[in-house]
Amino acid sequence: MSYSSFELLDHSRPILVFGRDGQVGRALQICLKDLQIPAVFLGRSDCDLASESSMIEVLNRYQPQVIMNAAAYTAVDKAESEHELAFAINSKAPELMARYIANVAHGILIHYSTDYVFADTKKDAYLESDPVGPVDHLNVYGQSKLSGEKAIEEVFNLSEDFGHTSYQDKFSRYFILRTSWVYGDGGNFIRTMLRLAGERDQLKVVADQVGAPTSAQWLAEVGVQMAGSRVGSGIYHAVPDGETSWHGLAVFAIETAVGCGEGIEIKSENIRAIPATDYPLPAKRPYNSRLNHEKLKRALSEMAYTNHYPHWQEQVEAYVRNYVEQSLKS
Ligand SMILES: NC(=O)c1ccc[n+]([C@@H]2O[C@H](COP(=O)([O-])OP(=O)(O)OC[C@H]3O[C@@H](n4cnc5c(N)ncnc54)[C@H](OP(=O)(O)O)[C@@H]3O)[C@@H](O)[C@H]2O)c1
Repeated sequence: MSYSSFELLDHSRPILVFGRDGQVGRALQICLKDLQIPAVFLGRSDCDLASESSMIEVLNRYQPQVIMNAAAYTAVDKAESEHELAFAINSKAPELMARYIANVAHGILIHYSTDYVFADTKKDAYLESDPVGPVDHLNVYGQSKLSGEKAIEEVFNLSEDFGHTSYQDKFSRYFILRTSWVYGDGGNFIRTMLRLAGERDQLKVVADQVGAPTSAQWLAEVGVQMAGSRVGSGIYHAVPDGETSWHGLAVFAIETAVGCGEGIEIKSENIRAIPATDYPLPAKRPYNSRLNHEKLKRALSEMAYTNHYPHWQEQVEAYVRNYVEQSLKS
């Protein structure tokens, strides 16, 4: 990996990571430690993102030049009844981070967002430039994440002519990395499927919602790479190649686990495909979560990050192998 613009950073000012204990936050801890990039990692007990005063106190105390925000209100169904809290964490907090970084020379904000900002207005993959919403078709979580995106863009739009900023300018930059179906060190769909496959003879899994499962470890690497890059501000879709349904992901993960020696008895034909309408949840999910990621691919190739852009299957396979190895050891 190359970190070409990290030389512009003032090393007396730390990289501040919010969301230390989440899936992407944990992956960022490993990634930054591996690269020996000094950073301060904050969890909920260090800074409550729902509290403006707590945020301001932390920003003033650390005076970061780079903020990586992996924290979010991610309880998608609970958000339906916790509108205010979801908006405080997913919209107001990133806005405060943006306001802070927009005034820092060579400042950088890395913020993670979601495919849930789209509401089935297209059949194929969404581009970064496609219209979002409509807002009243999004679930509350999606609305709050969209509001966070817009708040960040507005702050940077107002601060400088950000569209033309490059690493040569002293201007700060922002990167909104929209992703989908994240799995890492924490509760996630793959772990749930592997557990249920060990407990039940039959599983029913939604087969008409399509997207790309995305590794938290890879998302952390992409975030760090963007932070050290010379590319321009903006929204980037950060998902691997390929697509599948929740059912396709469950079958692939379970078959991989069986192949790795995990003692799962369930037969693939007993992992039944069902429509989303047979599995109603409080928050509505999109059928189409496909994100076109050519823009990120181009950016990463310009950075000489790696010539290899991953496919979701190779990432899931590596994750499941590791997960099975760890569980066989314990
Ligand atoms: N998970 C997905 O499938 C998915 C899909 C698309 C996009 N994303 C986005 O990707 C990013 C990372 O997601 P993730 O899966 O890593 O999320 P996660 O595992 O749920 O982690 C979120 C973190 O945010 C922290 N947090 C929540 N409320 C907070 C508060 N009031 N103050 C301080 N910290 C707070 C949580 O703290 P605690 O550990 O104390 O609870 C948790 O560590 C998020 O921006 C998310 O919206 C995720």
